[in-house]
Parts: sequence; structure tokens; C-alpha cells
Amino acid sequence: MAEFYITKAIDYVNGSPHIGHAYEKVLTDVIARFHRLTGDSVYFLTGTDEHGQKVQQSARKKGIAPQELADAMSAEFRGMLPRLEISNDDFIRTTEERHKRVVRELLQRLFDKGDIYKGEYRGFYSTRQEQFLQEKDRNPDGSWPEIYGEVSEIVEPNYFFKLRSYQGWLWEFLARSEDFVFPRYRQKQVVEFLKEPLNDLCISRPRERLEWGIPLPFDEAYVTYVWFDALVNYYSAVADKPGVWPPAWHVIGKDILVPPHAVYWPIMLHAAGIELPRGILVHGWWMTSGSKVSKSAGNALNPLDLVDEFGADALRYFLIREMNVGQDGDFSRELFLARYNSDLANDLGNLVNRALNMTNRFAGGSVPAAAAAGDAERELHGLWERTRTDYIAMFGQFQFHTALERLFAFISSINAYVEKRAPWKLGKSAVAADKELLQTSLATIAEALRLASVALRPVMPAATDKINGVLGYRPEGAWLDELAWGSRLTGARTAEALVLFPRPAPSGAVP
Ligand code: MSP
Repeated sequence: MAEFYITKAIDYVNGSPHIGHAYEKVLTDVIARFHRLTGDSVYFLTGTDEHGQKVQQSARKKGIAPQELADAMSAEFRGMLPRLEISNDDFIRTTEERHKRVVRELLQRLFDKGDIYKGEYRGFYSTRQEQFLQEKDRNPDGSWPEIYGEVSEIVEPNYFFKLRSYQGWLWEFLARSEDFVFPRYRQKQVVEFLKEPLNDLCISRPRERLEWGIPLPFDEAYVTYVWFDALVNYYSAVADKPGVWPPAWHVIGKDILVPPHAVYWPIMLHAAGIELPRGILVHGWWMTSGSKVSKSAGNALNPLDLVDEFGADALRYFLIREMNVGQDGDFSRELFLARYNSDLANDLGNLVNRALNMTNRFAGGSVPAAAAAGDAERELHGLWERTRTDYIAMFGQFQFHTALERLFAFISSINAYVEKRAPWKLGKSAVAADKELLQTSLATIAEALRLASVALRPVMPAATDKINGVLGYRPEGAWLDELAWGSRLTGARTAEALVLFPRPAPSGAVP
């Protein structure tokens, strides 16, 4: 059994979860579930990123302690997980003792090695926002936006991590490991970034300005700043769990690839003598009306509202079907409803109803045994064989949207098969051959539906359970074996009916 450790970005607690956060959770969960189903020993980590200036400031504005704010927001993110059917094994908070201890140990190790030194940090500082600004924060004309108030250049003693001395190593590492970053074109972006000389990374803030952080073990007048704290969560969560490290994949959004995950993190690990992850899986952004969904853009809708209305499976299906991993995707209620209606309510939902209905009407609610297959059965069976092979291969290559496209083409073919065999006509015939064909067609419909439903398990676990339930199917053995066309349903008792994906009220179509 292979160890498969998978992580996702830990969410900042300075805003409520939106569709982008939901997506990353679902994407990572689909990968984790797929690996569990194919026999790997999976450890799936998520959590919250709780320190920093913004949390300190928001708490102050609310007149509460940062810990209190972090507790409430972290609970909100955590509460979202079961609602989205996320199968994480662990949830780490950067304010937990287990995390702080490991961050301090790592800092000390790098300090003792001489990779951390004290120097002078020079930058533009906004007193109103209590933060250093970057060149990118300037207005196009070079002035500073109003929100920053007075901005002055200041020099402050701080601690630095020797990134620059590892630039050559990282360059060579990436040349050797061409598929460290998925998709590959994102690795090219990292290589581009490394063509310019790296600056050493400022990793501290004086405690008098920022108290909400982890104190440096070698100088308690400072706390460690942002990435040195956040990135270490992947390691601190499993530092005392033998055999879990290294991660197979870190799943993250494209905004935090360069430099944090692709430059700082590999260098931090390498410098500390810790094995590197297998790779970094980078997804794109959910956009709406051309801009990134985010709290600050004010276009964030609560994904849990969709879960309340349509169920977690429907949202999970939409997110995975619609997004090509790595690229951006559009989110709107209309797009969601279009997928929901055509794929889930129509194609899959109708198929389930027809299968139940006809088995009940023409076979007394017990799936008959198939007799000899005709051309139509052989065709459907052949299509399944090809679909299954490609589906599994595509899952292994993170091509979930095409895998689902193929699977739903198979579901459409089952519906076409139903039309072709028209069991309702065969049921009226007294001819023996028609009766036999009726049995074969009912068995074929039920089996094909069972296979499609089993295949959907990593994406729509609840729907798979429901379909199994109404087909009288009790899964046995390995998932990959369950995906083999056979006669497992012969004699199974079917339920009366199942409304899997109810059609939304007409008003649901209006955003
Ligand atoms: N706390 C850091 C990550 C630290 S990991 C050591 C952070 N937090 S975040 O809350 O801002 O974002 C969490 C994840 O959600 C990131 O991977 C980010 O890319 C992703 N998304 C945030 N908005 C998004 C979209 N609109 N679409 C898809 N995912 C995006 O960054």
C-alpha cells in the first residue's frame, strides 16, 4: 500500500470562505478519495492560516483578542468541510502548539546552520495600514493609493533567510524534476522567475509592531513573518507521524505558486535537510464577470447556499466538471444551473428513474439475469470498457473534467440504449424472444447505471451511495474490481423511486 500524503493551502482567517476555497477543498478531496479507492494509504491535510497583521488589525477593530477572531473564523472554515463531504484526515491551525513548536525548531536549525542572519530591511511603510508596501501597490503614476495614508521609507533591523545561496540548487533541481509543478507550463513560470537573482527573504517582524505571530526562538523580540509560519504547516502536522512525509502533492492556487510554494518552500526544506514533496499541483481561479472571485472584490457568494439548495454532490460535480485543472473557470448561477439541469437532473436523474421504474414494472422489482447479448448490448459494453480505461487514466493525470465528460457521454449512451430497446414495447409483447430481450435490456440498463454510479464515487459519494441503495447493490471488494462489467445485480431488489436531483423551481433560473 503506497503512502499518499496530500495537502491543500491553509485558508487565511481574515475573510469568510467562498467558491474558490470550496473548489480547492473539493479538488483535493476528489484526488484523496480516488487514491483511497485505488488502494493507497491516504493522509489528507487541510487547515487554517491564522497569524499576521491583518488578523491582528481586524481583531483590534472588533475589540477582541486575535485568538478569539481566529477561533471563530477557523471554526467557520472547518465547519464547511463536512458540508462539502470533504474526507480530510487532519485539520491544522497555525495557532496550535504542535505547529508553533515545529516552526521554532526549524528556525533554530536554520539559524544554527548560518542560513538565517540579521540585516536591515528597507521598505515603504504605511502607518495607517501598519504594513510594508510593494512596488506593485503603487498607482500607475507612481503615487501611493489613498488607503495607505502617509507612506515613508523606513529601515528596520530584521532577520533574513539566505534564499540567494540556494538559487543554483533550485535551478538544477527543477531541471532534473521537470514535472515538479503540474501543469508543466506553470513550472516554466518558476524557471522564468529564477532567471533574475533572488533576494534573501525577510522572515521577521519586530514584536512591537506585530505581536500576533510565532516568536523567533533565537530572538524573542521578533515574530516570524507569514510564509515561514504558514508553509511549515505541511510538515508540522505530520512531524510526529512516522511514514507520512513526504507529501505526494501540495494543492494550491496559482497566486501562491511563485515565489512561496515553488521557491521559498523547496529551499527551506532543502536547507533544513528535509525531503521534498513529489510535486505541486496548481489550479486556476474561479472568475465571475471577468474578475477573480475574492472577498476583497466583493463578488464572493457563499458556496454553502448552493449546498443548501442543491446538495453537496451537485456543487462538487459542477466544480470538477467545469474546471480544467490549472486553468481559470467561470462561475455563475446560470452556468451552475445549466450543468445541474442537463447532466444531473436530466441525464443521470432520469436514467435512475427509468431503471427503477422499468425494473419494477416489468420484472417485479428484481433485476433479471441477462440472456445472450445482441449488437446494442455489445456496443454499450464496449463503450464502457473504453470509458473505464480512459476515466481511470485521466483521473491519474488530474484530467477530471474530461473524465467526467466521457462518463456522461456513457450515461447518455445508456439513455440512448433505453430508447433503442424500448422495454415498454417489449413488455407488451407475448413473443418469447421479446421477453428474453426485455430481461436482457433491464439487466443491461441496471448494470450500466451501477458502473456509472460507482465511477462517480470520488466526485459524488452521496449520490453513489443512494444509487447503490435503490439498485439493491452492496459494494464488495476493491473499487477497480467493482468497475468491471458483470452480473453483480442479478436478483437485486430495486427500490420504488429516487429523486436524486430535483428540478429547481422555475424561479431558480433567475439569479
Ligand atoms: N493562507 C494562504 C495559503 C498558505 S498555504 C501554506 C492563502 N490563503 S487564502 O485563503 O487566501 O487562499 C487559500 C487558497 O484558496 C489558495 O490556494 C488560493 O489560491 C485559493 N483561492 C482563493 N481564491 C480563489 C479563487 N477565486 N479561485 C480558486 N481558488 C482561489 O493564500
